[in-house]
Amino acid sequence: MGFLNKLFGNTTKEEEKMTNSKLKIGIILGSTRQGRVSPQVGEWVKGIADKRGDADYEIVDIADFKLPFLGEGTGQEPGLAAWNEKLDSLDGFVFVVQEYNHSITGALKNALDSARDAWYNKAAGIVSYGSTGGARAAEHLRGILGELKVADVRTHPTLSLFTDFENGSVFKPQDLHQTNMTAMLDEVIAWSGALKTLR
Ligand SMILES: Cc1cc2nc3c(=O)[nH]c(=O)nc-3n(C[C@H](O)[C@H](O)[C@H](O)COP(=O)(O)O)c2cc1C
Repeated sequence: MGFLNKLFGNTTKEEEKMTNSKLKIGIILGSTRQGRVSPQVGEWVKGIADKRGDADYEIVDIADFKLPFLGEGTGQEPGLAAWNEKLDSLDGFVFVVQEYNHSITGALKNALDSARDAWYNKAAGIVSYGSTGGARAAEHLRGILGELKVADVRTHPTLSLFTDFENGSVFKPQDLHQTNMTAMLDEVIAWSGALKTLR
């Protein structure tokens, strides 16, 4: 039947799912503290991404899920199931990463640890910020993503707390980041589409 469908140009349901549906990309906010700047950065990423029209982009805020600290809850918390369902529904990610003590936040690490299969065979881009563009945190994240079978793309916009924020709190990105943002999103879309064929 598959052969006949191919011969006459018919597509199977599975093939339709692969070709017709838009990729779903989650923009994950890595910080949860009161007064955090990550929502401003996330909105900026989404604004640029939405203009492309090549995928459905949504902000995924770890804080909304009220995740228990790994192993300390019952495992039955609704947020934990919701977190896994949300990740399951996504084809790729853009991590908004902030540098805390030369690494990622505890909240992001806990959220990464709180799912397993839902991460596998997907792609991710990283946008980071900090005094040195959040580079050290981003490099730590890359190591973790390798273990979770998430393919992290090369291009990595790095935002400076000194030149892209006013007083470290009001986000005013320099125009130069647009080029890297476009290249990063191009790579995330290409790899997310390619990896969908593995799942
Ligand atoms: C606990 C903590 C540790 C930090 N350590 C670093 C650091 O090592 N390097 C750095 O560049 N910025 C560091 N910062 C500054 C943060 O990058 C900055 O406050 C940033 O706005 C945090 O992101 P958020 O506002 O989304 O929480 C640290 C901030 C906190 C709260």
